[in-house]
Amino acid sequence: LQPDDLMLTDECRELMGSLQSEKGWVLSSSTLYYLYQGFWYGALHMNGTLLTQRHFRSLDSDILLVTTPKSGTTWLKAIIFALLNRSCYSEPANRKLDHPLLHKNPHKLVPFLEVDIYTSKDPYPDLSNFNSPRLFATHIPLRSLPESVKDSKCKLVYLCRNPRDTFVSLWHFLNKLTHNETEMGIQALEGAFDMFCKGVSLYGPYWDHVLDYYKASLEMPHKVLFLKYEEMKDKQSEHLKRLADFLGCPLSEDEEANVGVDEILRLCSFDNLSKLEVNQTGKLELGLENKFFFRKGEVGDWVNYLTPEKIERLDRITEEKIGSSGLKL
Ligand code: A3P
Repeated sequence: LQPDDLMLTDECRELMGSLQSEKGWVLSSSTLYYLYQGFWYGALHMNGTLLTQRHFRSLDSDILLVTTPKSGTTWLKAIIFALLNRSCYSEPANRKLDHPLLHKNPHKLVPFLEVDIYTSKDPYPDLSNFNSPRLFATHIPLRSLPESVKDSKCKLVYLCRNPRDTFVSLWHFLNKLTHNETEMGIQALEGAFDMFCKGVSLYGPYWDHVLDYYKASLEMPHKVLFLKYEEMKDKQSEHLKRLADFLGCPLSEDEEANVGVDEILRLCSFDNLSKLEVNQTGKLELGLENKFFFRKGEVGDWVNYLTPEKIERLDRITEEKIGSSGLKL
C-alpha cells in the first residue's frame, strides 16, 4: 500500500513531513520508514502508535505482550491466551473441541494496540468488551509507550529472539507479504541485512528495542518479565510456570503434575498451530495471511542464510550495543 492509500490521521501526515525518513525494505519507491522517538516505523504503524499514545488508558490489571517483530509474538500470544483462559477450557468435554485457538489465529485473539485497535477507522475504540485482565500486544518501544502504561501497575511480558534468526525471519516475512500485496518484493537479503545492521528495520534499531526492555526488567522485575525465544523453546514448562507466576495466575500442583502444562504447550506448539485449517487458509487485515506467521519455528535457521562475514558484523554490533549490559543474545 502506498502512503496515499493509507488512512492516516492529519497529525501523522504532518509529523511524517518533519521526520527523518529512509527508503524501507520494500522495493516500492514510496514506501518509507520514519524515525520517530528514536525508532523506525512504517507509516501505518506510526499512525497507530500516535493514536495509542494519545488515547490508550491502561488499567492496573492489563497485560501487555511486547516484542520486536518476528521474535515469536504469535507463539507467546497463544501461550498467554491459553494460560489466562485455561479454566474455561479445562473440562474434558470442552478440551480441544471448543478452544478458540483451534479456530482463530492468535493475532485475532490478542490484538496489537497500534495495528488492530487504534487505527484511523476508529481512534476511540470501545474496549469495554475485553474481559479482565485485558491482554494486548504491541511492538512499541519502551520510551514511546503511553504514559498510562508506565504509571499504572499493568504488567509487561517482553519476548526477544537472537538477532540472526530475527533478521532472517523478518526478511522472509516481508518477502511473502510484499509479493502477495504488490508483487514488488523487498530488498535482496544483502541490502536488507545492511539496513538491519544500521538499525533501519521495523521498530528498529533492534538492539535498542531489546536493551531498553531488558534494563526495565532489571529495574522493575514485578512489572516487566523478560523472556527469550530460545530459552522458551528449550525449557517450555519452566517458562510457562514463570509466566503464570508473573501474571498472578500460578499453576496449581495438580496442573503442574498432570496434563495442564503439557496441554497448553501442545495446543500452542508450532506443529499444532501451523497445521490448523484456520492458520493455513485464513486471513487477517491488509492482505496478511495467517500462514505467513508460521515458517519454521526453529532456533538457528540463520545458518542457512548468513555468511561468516555477516555473522561477524552482526556479532560485533551486538557486542558494541549491549555487551556491557550483561545481556546475552
Ligand atoms: P521463523 O520465521 O524463524 O520460522 P512473530 O510471531 O513475532 O511474527 O514471529 C514469527 C516467528 O515465530 C516465525 O519464525 C514463526 O515460524 C515462529 N513461530 C510461529 N508460531 C510458533 C510457535 N507456535 N512456536 C514456535 N515458533 C513459532
